Amino acid sequence: MPSHLQSDELVFFVNGKKVTEKNADPEVNLLSYLRKNLRLTGTKYACGGGGCGACTVMVSKYDPISKKIRHNAVTACLFPICSLHGAAVTTVEGIGSTRTRIHPVQERIAKGHGTQCGFCTPGMVMSLYALLRNHPEPSPEQLTEALGGNLCRCTGYRSILESSRTFCTESNCCQMKGTGKCCLDQEENQTSSSHQKNDICTQLYTKEEFQPLDPTQDLIFPPELLRMAEDPNKETLTFYGERITWISPVTLNELLELKVKYPKCPLVMGNTSVGLTIGAGCSLDQVKQILTDEVSKLPEEKTRTYQALLKHLKSLAGQQIRNMASLGGHVISRHGYSDLNPILAAGNATLNLVSKEGRRQIPLNEHFLAGLANADLKPEEILESVHIPHSEKWEFVAAFRQAQCQQNALADVNCGMRVLFKECTDTIAGLRLFYGGIGSTTVSAHKSCQQLLGRDWNTLILDEAFRLILDEISLPASAPGGMVEFKRTLIVSFFFKFYLEVLQGLKKIIKMVSIPNSHRYPDVSEKFLSALEEFPVTVSRGVQEFQRVDPNQPPHDPVGRPILHQSGIKHATGEAIFCDDLPVVDKELFLALVTSTRAHAKIISIDASEALELPGVVDVITAEDIPGANGTEDDKLLAVDEALCVGHIICAVVAESEVYAKRAVEKVKIIYQDQEPVILTIEDAIRHNSYLSSEKKLEQGNVEEAFENADQIIQGEMHVGGQEHFYMETQRVLVIPKAEDKELEIYVSTQDPSHVQKTVSSTLNIPINRITCHVKRVGGGFGGKVSKPAVYGAIAAVAANKTGRPIRLVLDRREDMLTKGGRHPLFAKYKVGFMNNGRIKAMDIKCYINGGCTLDDSELVIEYLILKLENAYKINNLRFLGRACKTNLASNTAFRGFGFPQGGLLMESCITAVAAKCGLPPEKIREKNMYKRVDKTIYKQAYNPDKLIRCWNECLDKSSYHTRKAKVENFNSKNYWKKKGIAIVPMKFSVGFGATSYHQAAALVHIYTDGSVLVTHGGSELGQGIHTKMLQIASRELKIPMSYMHFCETNTATVPNTIATAASIGADVNGKAVQNACQILLKRLEPIIKKNPEGTWEDWVEAAFEKRISLSATGYFRGYKANMDWEKGEGDPFPYYVEGAACSEVEIDCLTGAHKNIRTDIVMDASCSINPAIDIGQIEGSFIQGLGLYTIEELKYSPEGVLHSQGPDEYKIPTVTDVPEEFNVSLLTSSENPMAIYSSKGLGESGMFLGCSVFFAIGDAVTAARKERGLMEDFMLNSPATPERIRMACADRFTEMIPIDDAKTFKPWCIPIA
Ligand SMILES: Cc1cc2nc3c(=O)[nH]c(=O)nc-3n(C[C@H](O)[C@H](O)[C@H](O)COP(=O)(O)OP(=O)(O)OC[C@H]3O[C@@H](n4cnc5c(N)ncnc54)[C@H](O)[C@@H]3O)c2cc1C
Ligand code: FES
Ligand code: FES
Repeated sequence: MPSHLQSDELVFFVNGKKVTEKNADPEVNLLSYLRKNLRLTGTKYACGGGGCGACTVMVSKYDPISKKIRHNAVTACLFPICSLHGAAVTTVEGIGSTRTRIHPVQERIAKGHGTQCGFCTPGMVMSLYALLRNHPEPSPEQLTEALGGNLCRCTGYRSILESSRTFCTESNCCQMKGTGKCCLDQEENQTSSSHQKNDICTQLYTKEEFQPLDPTQDLIFPPELLRMAEDPNKETLTFYGERITWISPVTLNELLELKVKYPKCPLVMGNTSVGLTIGAGCSLDQVKQILTDEVSKLPEEKTRTYQALLKHLKSLAGQQIRNMASLGGHVISRHGYSDLNPILAAGNATLNLVSKEGRRQIPLNEHFLAGLANADLKPEEILESVHIPHSEKWEFVAAFRQAQCQQNALADVNCGMRVLFKECTDTIAGLRLFYGGIGSTTVSAHKSCQQLLGRDWNTLILDEAFRLILDEISLPASAPGGMVEFKRTLIVSFFFKFYLEVLQGLKKIIKMVSIPNSHRYPDVSEKFLSALEEFPVTVSRGVQEFQRVDPNQPPHDPVGRPILHQSGIKHATGEAIFCDDLPVVDKELFLALVTSTRAHAKIISIDASEALELPGVVDVITAEDIPGANGTEDDKLLAVDEALCVGHIICAVVAESEVYAKRAVEKVKIIYQDQEPVILTIEDAIRHNSYLSSEKKLEQGNVEEAFENADQIIQGEMHVGGQEHFYMETQRVLVIPKAEDKELEIYVSTQDPSHVQKTVSSTLNIPINRITCHVKRVGGGFGGKVSKPAVYGAIAAVAANKTGRPIRLVLDRREDMLTKGGRHPLFAKYKVGFMNNGRIKAMDIKCYINGGCTLDDSELVIEYLILKLENAYKINNLRFLGRACKTNLASNTAFRGFGFPQGGLLMESCITAVAAKCGLPPEKIREKNMYKRVDKTIYKQAYNPDKLIRCWNECLDKSSYHTRKAKVENFNSKNYWKKKGIAIVPMKFSVGFGATSYHQAAALVHIYTDGSVLVTHGGSELGQGIHTKMLQIASRELKIPMSYMHFCETNTATVPNTIATAASIGADVNGKAVQNACQILLKRLEPIIKKNPEGTWEDWVEAAFEKRISLSATGYFRGYKANMDWEKGEGDPFPYYVEGAACSEVEIDCLTGAHKNIRTDIVMDASCSINPAIDIGQIEGSFIQGLGLYTIEELKYSPEGVLHSQGPDEYKIPTVTDVPEEFNVSLLTSSENPMAIYSSKGLGESGMFLGCSVFFAIGDAVTAARKERGLMEDFMLNSPATPERIRMACADRFTEMIPIDDAKTFKPWCIPIA
């Protein structure tokens, strides 16, 4: 379209203020407009695809027909600004702020400790706010639905849900499982130790403080927009962009005319509805409301199709997408994963089409879904509405879906099924079966249905139906999405569920009408009916217990109290500034990375000429532009001759804007010459002898002799998949070159600013003292921002150096996942010798991790993995070997737990395997082999297991493990298709770095003349609340309230030579440095205080200034000596241990592989927690991240080494519905740790491992299923225990009947790399 044409004015409101945009660009989305044009940076970018909810805002529109204002939470990243004409947008800034008044939603999420890094918080706030605008007293189910589309990687959701739940109508008691009793009163919770001690506190915040919801605080809908909506003379609007023109017609006629003129143009909106002919423009949420209404009005038999649709409308995408996506768009898109099309097709829906020529109807059937020309829309037609007929008495409609997780995940397979019987019989008169997730569109089992017509609905048809369906719905072995055998199994499992459901339905009808031959409907035994029950969507709740502070502690002393995160309120109001929220700097340019598309190739040439010709492009940066060192020989910042993985950074485009830079990236032409070998898997690496470092070994006792004396030996292999950090804030950096002396200011999201500083220094060949790195806060790190930000920072610095202009680099989610690497996948071979009573005599374990293409932290990770592998067990004869493999994948890096989550899982799996062989419960084997007295670890460091044993016993007690285990067994004996499992695991986790130089820190504390105190230290705020803890420490040391304290930013110019904020010791070492600085200051003030003991703090500070006493001090902590001699296999690598135990219970669906997390109890030793709210938040958040690692998260790679999972659509992290329904955490009381400040402990990482209690509970449930089916009990479950793995492990007649392809005959879509 010609761009010289004059666009119409786009008018909308944002937070009550009118916005008139004269040059609205149809390609600009609301998120970008808010952040860049309006400088409203509270709304965050985290995925750009509608999948995370970080960009949630509320869009309100007035409907002149219903005279109602509709408020919808939407994802701004998918919302084109051109569709905003006449709408009112509310962002997080619009509902409250610290400058005016904060909104109750903001207050409750913050004060309820529902924020950690705070990056997801504005999105959470807005989802909740929009819910409350529509339902001021929502039900818990509505709450879960509203938050289902919002991801949080830090908190574990419990705190968010709990504080949000204070808006719900129902009492705060859980009314568990409809018993009317509170979970806390349940008999099984009457443990011997809990709730009796008055030194235990369970209140992390005071609900009574919360302001009530006050609708008068809400912005009113702008009257001008009401007038605009009612205006009878509305005109068609046209917006011309550089590449696209957007036309908003007012009437249907105008739209149809446009459709004739531009038949190929996509349509973006409509909006009408009549009865059960639902307007194509209705949002999916409106469809849900219409159907819910209809279901409540009509008899059950008429609404079976609607009920099936409603079932899927609850889990389809997140609430924001359901608010935005239209029924018409959904139907017409004909996505292969569509949840609604299979049901609409099964339910005989018809499509009402309209064009200038008139109206007509076409069926929504297999021909339409297949896109056959004679069954499709004509180019000039649009879909006006969808007609969904009522079901009939003898007709049954059902829908099933299985996805990676319960909420906000595309289905792996879904289906819509309908059967019609001849009246008063079970003879099939009509059958329609449609499946999604199988191909590029919904597919029909039409022929199978035809062949089953006239047959009776009883077990006799089942085998034939399965065979017919499997033949017809064929899935090639190399089908996109993989999981082929799982999907095939689901195809038949779903039909079996349908069979049972219909049978139940038939039986119900018989009860109501008397039918002569009712004996024909066979009974389904109670035991098999569990196949039909869906897992309910529940809101998690639980109890958090921690030690009450000593009543004699002065009230102003905040240590030990659950103090609110220093930035909590600012997170919730959107005022907290993250790296990319910094305003555009004069002459700023944007950088975008060009990465390799080949896993292993020579780079023959880089041709940037076409890119350089594009508008807005300034330069292309290659390795030749680096004035200093291009990384190291083995790990280059920018690839030179060789690309070592897909995603290897080769060069970067500098342009005037992000859009220009990203467009130009596509035009950089790189010629490759593929190289051999391409090593992707660990087994490939072993075969090619491809390693990143030497083998690490620890050994104790006489392993061979012990094997000889063992009663039994088991041997096997285990695979543990990797993990993506998926911090919500992707990697980002802003480099500002200064006019003088080559100085650079760098604002960067990092856990290690000094490393960024050093890397930039060596890359540009300038001294470190010219470079200042600033870190205000980081939107989650989890290890992914330890080494990698230095790479991105250095490349941006090269661009800044070359162009002399500020450079901003903000990775999109795809680039972030592609280039950064993640947790190391593990492959292990184990041999365990044990006695029949379960005592383990010897273990020989070889571990290999997939390190990717460069060393990064891989050598350290394998060292830590080996050091920590023994976990809580004292086994006299051990041999642990470990090696980091070099492969052609993005280089893997540090990740919370640093090898322990993988190694610990392996150890616990060995224990479980021993239990199965001995025929003993796993907890007995754990107890038998656990450390019992002070002893030496495998690396000969002394270890006292007192706290380990306490945690274990308290966890057994608090979880009522033995009582519940008996209940689980009872449940399993009564249910065939659903099984429960329960497991308890102990943990001994060593904190700290294995190198002395890392155990140091510095702090700088200034007292100003008004008495206010500025605290600075070397730690980065990642959401773990380090600054809050530091201010608590300063407050105690200086004996003044926290209100005097402020923390501004981490900055390499104020505190130099910092160590990475990692390894759980950030608060330990920096806390000691802050303490030291404060003690120095107080010592200086002592004479003044002595002189005037009745004076105030301000008096003393003033007097000190008068007396020329320095009010600024550097504190320093020279920490633990950590050493490890790998030659001798001994040392003191760790300052101390964190102990804990977790018990989890789950229920699995053996037919689909789904599971429900029912309950988790964690007992952890935090010793004297500095801040129990923060520490419990760390435990809960890391536990849920661990649960993700072990049960949900799966990285998928093509056989060519391309990462398929490049965003939240393909890579699932836990959502609100994955949190255990009951989630209790308690901190051990009366415990001390002399090694850390105020006897506290660092809890950043350890909880991650406890997520494996869910994995073992799943294993327990699968074992119960396998036992019942007569299968071997001692199977090895690999991680993650996804629905696919669970389903396939619950082997049965369905898994047996599916065709299995010969691996040699096809190329799979993805390959396992662990
Ligand atoms: C993050 C995310 C998660 C999702 N998860 C799921 C899920 O779990 N399950 C699921 O089933 N779906 C899911 N979806 C898809 C969603 O349900 C919608 O189908 C999809 O977004 C398209 O809807 P839309 O209204 O935005 O269509 P648009 O993108 O606006 O339009 C799609 C196409 O339909 C055409 N069109 C639209 N309306 C008409 C009309 N009236 N007449 C003729 N042509 C028309 C347009 O021209 C265009 O070609 C997800 C989508 C996102 C973004
Ligand atoms: S949903 Fe918009 S950024 Fe993720
Ligand atoms: S607090 Fe939710 S992502 Fe960090």
